Amino acid sequence: MTPMLRWANFGVRVVVIVFVGVFTFVARWPGAADVAVEIAALTVSTVVLAVWVPADRLASAGNYSGLRPFALAVMVALCGAASATPKGGFFILLGVTAAIAAGSDLDFRVGVVVASLGIVATEVTALALGTGGSVPVEYPLVLGLSFVFGRNMRAHWVYADQANQLREEQARVATLDERTRIAREIHDVLAHSLGALGLQIQVARAVLTDQHDEARAVELLEQAQRMATDGLNETRRAIHALRGETLPLPASLAELGAHHQRRYDTRVTFEVSGDVRPLSPDAELAITRTAQEALVNTAKHAPGQPVKIQLEYAEADIKLTIRNHLQGNRGDGRQSLLATVNGGYGLTGVRERLLLLHGALSVGAQDDDWVVVAKVPR
Ligand SMILES: Nc1ncnc2c1ncn2[C@@H]1O[C@H](COP(=O)(O)OP(=O)(O)OP(=O)(O)O)[C@@H](O)[C@H]1O
Ligand SMILES: [Mg+2]
Repeated sequence: MTPMLRWANFGVRVVVIVFVGVFTFVARWPGAADVAVEIAALTVSTVVLAVWVPADRLASAGNYSGLRPFALAVMVALCGAASATPKGGFFILLGVTAAIAAGSDLDFRVGVVVASLGIVATEVTALALGTGGSVPVEYPLVLGLSFVFGRNMRAHWVYADQANQLREEQARVATLDERTRIAREIHDVLAHSLGALGLQIQVARAVLTDQHDEARAVELLEQAQRMATDGLNETRRAIHALRGETLPLPASLAELGAHHQRRYDTRVTFEVSGDVRPLSPDAELAITRTAQEALVNTAKHAPGQPVKIQLEYAEADIKLTIRNHLQGNRGDGRQSLLATVNGGYGLTGVRERLLLLHGALSVGAQDDDWVVVAKVPR
């Protein structure tokens, strides 16, 4: 129950007590023979109401949980009995509040016992005092129905609570997903470029201290500077991607290709086919990362070889193919400028990323070509 509902409940109970008090003592006082029962009932009800909130708090905190059924049992029995006295009819309202609370706040079995107590007390009093009319039949029935109404309210609250929990859980999962995505981006972009940079600087230092070859060291440091710039650009691109400010996939792949062509002085061609439609951000990112790794690989393992990028939007999936001629067959004999950074895990990482999206990666030599094919379902 939300705090607001609890206070609304409390408010209703106060109003009922005041109402019953006013009508019992102002309208009927004095002269009622059974006023002792009424005074007792109203006193108990007031006391119960006064301890209601602390008892509720204690019970919800797991302490003194027996207090609540006990208070309700006394209240429903006394008010039921008072309502069955010839002039105490209004007390049925207090009995009803207690019976509803027995249904909504108590465990089913305990609630049944409490409500039954009220019903029996009402019935016995009506029969003992010979209260006529509809009282012996209707009042116990009203108490029983109030209990059922309370049970329904409880079921509704439980349902609302579960719906809330589900929503919170979904939000939590979405946050976790987002964190995982950020972590992967940091790993792939920052860790990769910083690792490469560290290695490059280490090599430059060794060239300077061991070989005293300043010209080569300057060349290596220039490369390191380019790597740092590339890393920074990559980081910016990743931040844009995480903020959802990405270019459409074909445009971003075309840009990657053009950048690669300038950077490595290698011919890169790019083709798109099929019905271009936006994919999920995760899928677009996975395809982009695959293209980046495959392009870096071409520069590393087949430097100078022309590269062909194809993006196909098929009905069931999206397919990225990147191919280059294998080094040694038709190559221009250029040596790779890049070293393997993290022990040949580039394609493994890409494969894992694609598998998470139920996609697949196939890599290998086909005739004279090295071909990388990534597929992600639409
Ligand atoms: N374009 C390519 N041309 C020829 N061989 C390639 C090409 N791409 C990858 N390979 C071969 O596949 C291997 C695995 O590639 P992968 O990207 O997983 O590792 P890596 O590039 O060697 O290291 P890392 O990516 O971790 O820096 C490479 O070591 C290389 O032998
Ligand atoms: Mg690689």
